[in-house]
Amino acid sequence: IAQGNIEAGKAKSATCVACHGEDGNSPSDLYPKIAGQHESYLEKQLIQFKNGERSDPIMMGMVAGLSDQDMKDLAAYFSAQPATPETVSPEIAVAGRDLYMGGDKERGIPACTACHGPRGNGLELAKFPKISNQHPAYLKAQLEKFRSQARENDPNGMMGDISAKLTDADIELLSKYISAL
Ligand code: HEM
Ligand code: HEM
Repeated sequence: IAQGNIEAGKAKSATCVACHGEDGNSPSDLYPKIAGQHESYLEKQLIQFKNGERSDPIMMGMVAGLSDQDMKDLAAYFSAQPATPETVSPEIAVAGRDLYMGGDKERGIPACTACHGPRGNGLELAKFPKISNQHPAYLKAQLEKFRSQARENDPNGMMGDISAKLTDADIELLSKYISAL
């Protein structure tokens, strides 16, 4: 993994930028930001859209014609772009902190920070993606997809198990909180 060429990726990115933005910071919250995400995670998502392990009608069409090298180059390019931060109200920043940083023992929810880190930067070596600086709407949609098993291909089903224990209110709060970590 991580043998992509940034310049080659930029040259191949023309179709992607229509939705994900010139530098991977999609202006619309209909589409996720992919700027600054770990290279190996981006490559893995593209491979999984291609082999059908992660299903999304739009992205499955996008990757159909990409070679292995195209996916590596695109991952290298978007990973190298800085992500633009989101902001949330101080109330959300305080309310989300307990659950994100400490989990909920009684309900069996692990602390998100254990894998995604205190700033939401994840840990590339362990395959834990960066989740901060992302549109809240996308974070919410992914947590709901994990919960309904519409997205269940994550390694060892980690997010499936965790999201099953989250209420709608938890997901609403965490999505906003994480976006501005
Ligand atoms: C998701 C890359 C083109 C719409 C993603 C993800 C990646 C990606 C890596 C997963 C993000 C994550 O897991 O955090 C690319 C690349 C493209 C491309 C490299 C060009 C080859 C497009 C275009 C559109 C689009 C043109 C819109 C027409 C979406 C949507 C999602 C997504 C809606 C979210 C899917 C979901 O909810 O699971 N893209 N994309 N992408 N992309 Fe693209
Ligand atoms: C992916 C949120 C706890 C491991 C994700 C994503 C979100 C998320 C939004 C999707 C990122 C994207 O599509 O770009 C959360 C929240 C947590 C939590 C809110 C706490 C309630 C954890 C924990 C672990 C973990 C404790 C490790 C045991 C992972 C992994 C992925 C992921 C491996 C990538 C899945 C894949 O490759 O498809 N998480 N997470 N998460 N998370 Fe978590």
